[in-house]
Amino acid sequence: DRVVVLAGGLSHERDVSIRSGRRVADALRGAGVEVEVRDVDATLLPALLADRPDAVFPTLHGATGEDGAVQGILALLGLPYVGSSATACRRAFDKPSAKEAVRAAGLSTPDWVAIPKTTFRDLGTQAVLDAVTAALPLPLFVKPARGGSSLGATAVHTREELPAAMVACFAYDETALIERHVSGREIAVSVVDTGQGPHALPAVEIVADSGVYDYAARYTAGMTEFFAPARLTSAEAQAVEELAVRAHNVLGLSCISRTDLILGADGTPWFLEVNVAPGLTETSLLPLAAGAADLDLGVLYRDLVQAVAA
Ligand code: DAL
Ligand code: MG
Repeated sequence: DRVVVLAGGLSHERDVSIRSGRRVADALRGAGVEVEVRDVDATLLPALLADRPDAVFPTLHGATGEDGAVQGILALLGLPYVGSSATACRRAFDKPSAKEAVRAAGLSTPDWVAIPKTTFRDLGTQAVLDAVTAALPLPLFVKPARGGSSLGATAVHTREELPAAMVACFAYDETALIERHVSGREIAVSVVDTGQGPHALPAVEIVADSGVYDYAARYTAGMTEFFAPARLTSAEAQAVEELAVRAHNVLGLSCISRTDLILGADGTPWFLEVNVAPGLTETSLLPLAAGAADLDLGVLYRDLVQAVAA
């Protein structure tokens, strides 16, 4: 098979994407697959049309990679690719709409409000603060409605911290997701489907040395302790895996996803978000989960490609 790995793009997570793409390309080559890595720019369309690879493996994070734009183009070109449909990506990448869908399906997700930048501007800071604190108890988490890698995300412990957190968030997206902060263990569950239906890889538990799993903690080796598999009872493991597979199905996702969640002290798994193009860098969670399952990454990525290839 000839595979084109898409990496780079113009989102805030460009650097992460380049690292993911390089790792995926190396792993695929190790499994005997012919690979070309391409950035996403104006030359992409003609190149893909001329090239017609057997499959495309987008490792694009953030906007254009996870919002369905690239997936729509690949579908129009009739090129098979590893990942979800444009429509499913668009809904899953938008955190408020993903939360709404999983809540409607009966899964737990922390209470939230979504505030557009224009509302913040038109109503003024005090009115927004009043509305948010009337709707949600502190502490809160403020994050861009559409984004990734914790960029623009801030934990808010007091009412006074909220305006700055929202301004930081609006640097990344037009809408702020303000979410009730639920305490518990931070867990990520990757889901893969190589043709036999979606199944969960072992859950990974995240313990950031600084206490906050921010951009630096994500991509600097040694700044975060990972437990793969997570330190869970079999009932807890089953609950978090079930949540991830259900979120994957409810949102109509395909091939690959990773659900990030909090496991509360009472055993409730709280859905936070799903990533339709999960990070595949050397410090990312899905590769750790595959390692915990004794899955060779090259074989896993090749199986994902072969399941969609023409
Ligand atoms: N958004 C990054 C790539 C992740 O979730 O892994
Ligand atoms: Mg994310």
